[in-house]
Amino acid sequence: MRGRTGRIWLLLAVIPVFGISSAFAADADHGADLAKRWCASCHLVTSSQTQASADVPSFASIARRPGFSPERLAFFLLDPHPKMPNFPLSRNEATDIAAYIGSLR
Ligand code: HEC
Repeated sequence: MRGRTGRIWLLLAVIPVFGISSAFAADADHGADLAKRWCASCHLVTSSQTQASADVPSFASIARRPGFSPERLAFFLLDPHPKMPNFPLSRNEATDIAAYIGSLR
């Protein structure tokens, strides 16, 4: 299995390309809808939500992490890690969710 370091290098390699294509069309409102539908069963996706899985980071805490960027997050969402289910997210949907999470900062 690929380690965390491998993943980070992969991200660094792809961000420049992805960053350009995601510079337009990110829609945080649409991202919020998607997050409520796909992610709220495990994550706290809004500040008004009260229940989620205990050991899963809230979206607000993800947004406040050092080094957070919507581009990196959008890319992460296209290749989620093993503890998360694989979502059939399009690139635009991933970008919108990342924009929404970025707005929680
Ligand atoms: C089945 C439960 C589940 C669902 C549904 C889920 N996640 Fe997660 N997510 C997790 C768990 C568990 C972790 C913590 C994983 C870890 O610590 O390695 C996590 C971590 C994350 C992280 C942080 C990754 C990191 O580098 O630490 C992000 C970002 C994230 N999820 C985004 C999402 C988004 C966006 C959705 C909806 C499209 C989603 N998740 C849906 C379980 C879920």
